[in-house]
Amino acid sequence: MVDAYSGDAAPDSPMSAFKRAFKYYKSRNPPPDMSTVWAMDESDVGRGVRISPLPTSIHSASSEQAELGLNPIDQWTVATIDSKPGIMLLRGVFRPESHLYWLDRCLRAYPEAPNVTNLDAHSDQKLTQIWRGGDLNRLRWTTLGYHYDWLLKEYRDESRSPFPSDLDALSRTVAAAAGFDGFTPETAIVNYYPPKSTLSGHVDRAERDLDQPLLSFSFGQTAIYLSGGTSLDEEPTPMFLRSGDVLILYGDQRLVNHAVPRVFAERPFSDSAAFDPIVVNYANSNRVNITVRQVNVC
Ligand code: OGA
Ligand code: MN
Repeated sequence: MVDAYSGDAAPDSPMSAFKRAFKYYKSRNPPPDMSTVWAMDESDVGRGVRISPLPTSIHSASSEQAELGLNPIDQWTVATIDSKPGIMLLRGVFRPESHLYWLDRCLRAYPEAPNVTNLDAHSDQKLTQIWRGGDLNRLRWTTLGYHYDWLLKEYRDESRSPFPSDLDALSRTVAAAAGFDGFTPETAIVNYYPPKSTLSGHVDRAERDLDQPLLSFSFGQTAIYLSGGTSLDEEPTPMFLRSGDVLILYGDQRLVNHAVPRVFAERPFSDSAAFDPIVVNYANSNRVNITVRQVNVC
């Protein structure tokens, strides 16, 4: 995985503030104090958190936005942190009933060839078998567009397939609403988080155009997300990422350490005629995160 720090620190070197926080929020026994996690749902002068309607030049509600499962843009809010310019946390973006649509896409369509998943290396673990056998928790990542090479930590021109058109439209719409008009979705990593799974600390630096924002969509259950600095010695900010949250990272925030030390179930999804009960069941205990990135200078 994008796993820069999974090895333990040398015995005589002190644990970094980032690694210490990761351990704290990952711990089951004792569990972390959840009240220390920033909710980011109301302005907080002490912490420099500001919540406001998304300042946007796009006000029209189009039929395409509704097809993508989006609320009218004038209902979206943005949370920012004064000390971390380059973070926008958008909320109110998705209509409640559309979360399962995107989860369904991530579980059923996106893992199909020519897209690449962690299951591809094991010929005995095809997606259809996993659906039949009910062990969807074996699916851990899917790459779309340019397929990220986990070993070389790069995107190669030879390894690329078409980017899904619905995710392309979603990403362009959200980016434009947030003021990033020229954003071109070229690659995505879908990370699947079964209960107890984590994503260790890393910096995403493989994209060739780091001036572009990175869009991160969360669906399903809730994560504690650690937003650190460029140095692991900087104390990271823990925040909740909930279903439907869109985190946009740009500028200096493109190159900071971040991690997901914990996923926990708190959000019930009800059965719905429109969705396979397997998807609803999955949503009730797992989290899916889609990070959409532009690779090239377009
Ligand atoms: C990533 C990533 C964060 C998340 O895929 O690079 O940092 O919220 N994901 O799952
Ligand atoms: Mn990342």
